[in-house]
This record gives sequence, structure tokens and C-alpha cells, in this order.
Amino acid sequence: MALIGVFDSGVGGLSILDEALRQLPEHDYIYLADSIHAPYGERSSEWIAARSLELCRFLASQGCNAIVVACNTATAQAIAHIRSELIDIPIIGVEPGIKPAALQSSKGIVGVLATEATLKSDKFNDLLGTLPSSCQFIKQAGAGLVPLIESGQANSEETLELLAKHLEPIQDAGADTLVLGCTHYPFLRKSIRKLLGDSINLIDTSDAVVRQLKRKLETLHPDADSDRYGSIKFISSKDAKALLNMSQELMQSNLSQHALEWQLELSFK
Ligand code: DGL
Repeated sequence: MALIGVFDSGVGGLSILDEALRQLPEHDYIYLADSIHAPYGERSSEWIAARSLELCRFLASQGCNAIVVACNTATAQAIAHIRSELIDIPIIGVEPGIKPAALQSSKGIVGVLATEATLKSDKFNDLLGTLPSSCQFIKQAGAGLVPLIESGQANSEETLELLAKHLEPIQDAGADTLVLGCTHYPFLRKSIRKLLGDSINLIDTSDAVVRQLKRKLETLHPDADSDRYGSIKFISSKDAKALLNMSQELMQSNLSQHALEWQLELSFK
């Protein structure tokens, strides 16, 4: 069995962990939330790169065989650096799904909701540059949304109001497809549907990310025993019990099938 580290600035990466438990329930997981420092999206590139590497080193020191950087912001700012330092461990990142969005949009008008740090990163803009100019992308930074989700308010009135402001330019442009370019945003699905209706196509890359993880694991552990449910350890830099409670609230997976542990990690504060 593999031990897989999943890391995010906070609870956003739980959307990736949820999908991983659906496709790969037999492996053991460490979910690491750096909630004391969330949100990452308005921090400098240097800070995000250094902090993300520090946390991935921590996961490697815990014996992780693979690490998922379950954060678009950290992937955009740090993944190349992390891969160059941790050369023995597969590092899987997350990127806004602008490519599938461009292919799926029938009008060629796509909204991209992501953090400011993701939208201004070279990685994101390089990817954007490879896509046909016939597709129009309306980029919108979701300032203020992550702290609301972190405080358990994904479906509150306050969140709905802020989201309405952020989605207005995307709606005005007539987008038929919306990229959820931050792993926290799949938890806003209900509110997004309330505002934009059922016809808009929402793009979330968690399925593709986990399929990529699966491919990596198949080469590392081809004889994995699939007849078990692995353990999950929730580690937070702020409040591990709160993280576990949020996981039970936000995730669809039946966590009671897994042995659960939680830990407050103060060493990397
Ligand atoms: N969940 C993260 C992402 O996918 C980071 C959000 C934040 O901390 O600003 O971008």
C-alpha cells in the first residue's frame, strides 16, 4: 500500500482527497492543511514557493510515497521547485481546467474563477497562451471566498453575495462554462448553481488529478491489495479537530470506513 500526502492551504484539498477516496480507497493518506496561513492566494510567489516546499518536505519525512499538491496556487507558484528538490517522490499538481473548458464551451466563452496568485502566475499564463485565441477567457480572482469556506460558510448568505459580485463579469460576458480554478471552489457548487442556474458547465479537475495519481501508483505499487480501506491522518497547522469536523461536513466519502487520526502540527508554524 502507498502512503499518499495531500496538501493544501486549508480545506480546499479535501475536494481532491474526496475523489482520491472514491477511486483509491485502499491507500493510506495524510491530509495536511496549512490553515493558519490560509489564504495563500494573496501572498507573494516567494512565500508560497518556500512554504509549499517546507510542507512537502514534512510529508516526505512522514514516509509519503507520493504527494498531491492539492492547491492550484501552490502548484502554479511552486511545483517545479518542489519537484527539483524532492526528486525521488512523484509530485502531482492541480491546474485550472482551462484546456477542457475551451474544448467543451460551445460559445467559446469561458469564465475562470481562481486566486489572484494563480491568475498572475507564469504557469497559468503560459498554459493560456497555448489555447486557441478564438476562445475568450474571463478571469476573475475570488478574493475573500477562501476565508469564508475555511470558516464553514460555503453556503451562507454572505458567501452568496460575494460570489454574485465575482461572477457578474462572467455572467455578463455570456460564459457557458466556468472553471473552478481553486480546490476550495467545488464546495461552492450549490451557491454557484443558485446564482448561475443548471445550464452552465462547471469544470473541476479533481477526477483528472486522481487518475494521474493512480497511473503513478500503478507503476510504483503494481501489486496493491485493493480489498481494504486505508487510514487517513488529518494534520493542521491551526486546529486538527476542526479540520476533521470540516472534512465530515464537506466531503461526500463515507469516512467511517477509514481509520481516522488527527494531529496539530506546531513544528512548522
Ligand atoms: N485551495 C487553493 C487553490 O487551489 C488555495 C486557496 C488559497 O489559500 O488562497 O488555489
